[in-house]
Amino acid sequence: MKHPIAASLAAFALLASGCATSDLNVAAAAPEDSQIISLDQVNVSSPSGDLQVSLSAENGALAWTADWRGDRVIQPSSLGLAFKTGRDLNRDLIIASVSRANHDETWEQPWGERQFVRDHHNEMLAEIAFTDGTPAFALRVRIFDDGFGFRYEVADTGARQIIDEQTEFRIDPTSKSWWIPGAGWNRYEELYKTTPMSDMHRAHTPITLELPDNGPFLSIHEAALVDYAGMWLNQRRLGTLEAELAPWSDGTKVKVEGAFVTPWRTVQVSDTAAGLANSDLILNLNEPNALGDVSWAKPSKYVGIWWCMHINECSWGSGDIHGATTERTQAYIDFAAEHGFDGVLVEGWNHGWDGDWFSNGEIFSFTQAYPDFDLEGLAAYAAERDVYLIGHHETSGAITNYEEQIEAAYALYERLGIPAIKTGYVADGGEITRRDADGKVYKEWHDGQYAVNHHLRALKLAAQHKIAINAHEPVKDTGLRRTYPNAFSREGARGQEYNAWGQPPNDPAHTTILPFTRMLSGPMDFTPGIFDLNFGKPVTEDPRVQTTLAKQLALYVLLHSPIQMAADLPRNYEARPDAFEFVKQVPVDWSESIMLDGYPGDFAVMARKDRNSQAWYLGAVTDEEARTIEINLDFLDGFPYEAQIHKDGADADWKTNPYPLELDFQSVDQNASMTLTLAPGGGTAIAFIPLE
Ligand code: NOJ
Ligand code: CA
Repeated sequence: MKHPIAASLAAFALLASGCATSDLNVAAAAPEDSQIISLDQVNVSSPSGDLQVSLSAENGALAWTADWRGDRVIQPSSLGLAFKTGRDLNRDLIIASVSRANHDETWEQPWGERQFVRDHHNEMLAEIAFTDGTPAFALRVRIFDDGFGFRYEVADTGARQIIDEQTEFRIDPTSKSWWIPGAGWNRYEELYKTTPMSDMHRAHTPITLELPDNGPFLSIHEAALVDYAGMWLNQRRLGTLEAELAPWSDGTKVKVEGAFVTPWRTVQVSDTAAGLANSDLILNLNEPNALGDVSWAKPSKYVGIWWCMHINECSWGSGDIHGATTERTQAYIDFAAEHGFDGVLVEGWNHGWDGDWFSNGEIFSFTQAYPDFDLEGLAAYAAERDVYLIGHHETSGAITNYEEQIEAAYALYERLGIPAIKTGYVADGGEITRRDADGKVYKEWHDGQYAVNHHLRALKLAAQHKIAINAHEPVKDTGLRRTYPNAFSREGARGQEYNAWGQPPNDPAHTTILPFTRMLSGPMDFTPGIFDLNFGKPVTEDPRVQTTLAKQLALYVLLHSPIQMAADLPRNYEARPDAFEFVKQVPVDWSESIMLDGYPGDFAVMARKDRNSQAWYLGAVTDEEARTIEINLDFLDGFPYEAQIHKDGADADWKTNPYPLELDFQSVDQNASMTLTLAPGGGTAIAFIPLE
């Protein structure tokens, strides 16, 4: 009997094979129906041909591989989705047909690491059917010269629950890896582990790998995480990283309704670690701006009533040392106005902080200020000085409580001219509070589907109120800032705050690893710029910031965030005008960014061009080793520049002598080269200002 769907799939397959016969093998059909055609193996290559992804079907199972310049980098790895009820998409599968496309377009970012982004890729859409010819799903692959992504596209089969995604990444387990544990209590706020991949159990993405025998480097992550659960990589068998989706509290992974697509599963490939940092893969795999005119989402630099809480000089809660007082906020507004900052963040302004605020998320109010904080008056005081307040919403992970007030809270901030909010979800991993209509409480993951959907709801609502979001304890970044450019920044890694608490502080290597791991996912609110590295204590007493002063400056260029903080107390900036000038001067929005050199755990050198002038900036950091780095200035444009160099002074050393800073001025152009000299735990920050 002739199967109508099989017949049409077969016709489709023949058509497709007609256009690209060279990389298709057309095999014998399924036994009962000679109309069903299945393709053994299909390939798609990147525009340059350097990178290739293959998809094959054997005995009803799908597998994919990847090759870089002819070498296999991903060994045959499974694909599939399993559901609680109904037919799984993981066996009795054939590749029924493929269609192909290519794409070369340059699009503009409203703000970011670079203004113009080239999206140049080849695409293969493989229609996957069951062996009886019934369509199963489609696998869409987009392959660029620096990486690729693929996703499952599944037609409507009603409301269903995914219980397992069976995507695998099979990689040589002797590869070197940089990773943080997935599914842990401390969310993404871990120091990176540097181990053979064989020692990695369960990891958050992005993870970074260096394959044996000099590479290449790989970064595995996901793009466009929408209405789905975040992916951890679980090495359940040596050398096989399996996608493990953050579960709901009921144990299911993803609740789908109707047709759905998964996030893109992405792999970046580069001969150098620096190459990973120069890729736009994640953004290119996201949908274009859905918000239209976002000129209201303005990159900015801010100060805040914040560090004093972390070093215990003031408190979030009310009382003698309450940080968010009207008087202190006025002083911060004055300081911001005097030194050209755009915003002033104030934490602890609202009811709910008294007592154990970590555990009391249900009592936070997002509209009621403490009596010693005159919200309306301060918003007006700031506006008169051409500064604005930055809002703060700590939820302690109690998302339902937040959602009950979110509309009113955003409307209040909009009315007061507050254009950005720092949100927070302090709660252990797996401890997000979801309360249902009957008041029953469930505990969810920060990267489960519930939290993923909350973050997008918040972004869309914030956009209606012309507000940008900087989320702490967030879900990881998967490039949604392209679609929703009010998704400014986030934490999602171990930031500066750990240096205040010291449990333990960030070691000197930490910020040499971030640019090749966490930062591949997007901007981070690391909060650089601590000048009093010991918080008034003797220089060698812990906790303290394990960097030199010059390295704090370099972080402004290295760690991109369109909302960038000058994190220290005003008095510490006033004490070091030599270093403070750079913090005031450094841009937060860039027309180009180039990672010049680096190796995770050792050093990183980033050059970026200001979006609003012809100036270039450079930030270089090293780990605990002193380092001399040669750089070529050929990234500069064709004019002469004054290089204003802020470097570690004589005998600087993060451990014993972190403060010496030397300013050096040189005339340079694009034909010049430079030798950077970094102290142990040190850095260099340079402004290249055109001479005419
Ligand atoms: C943790 C955030 O990372 C930090 O910046 C903030 O001060 C506290 N939560 C309180 O919201
Ligand atoms: Ca945090």
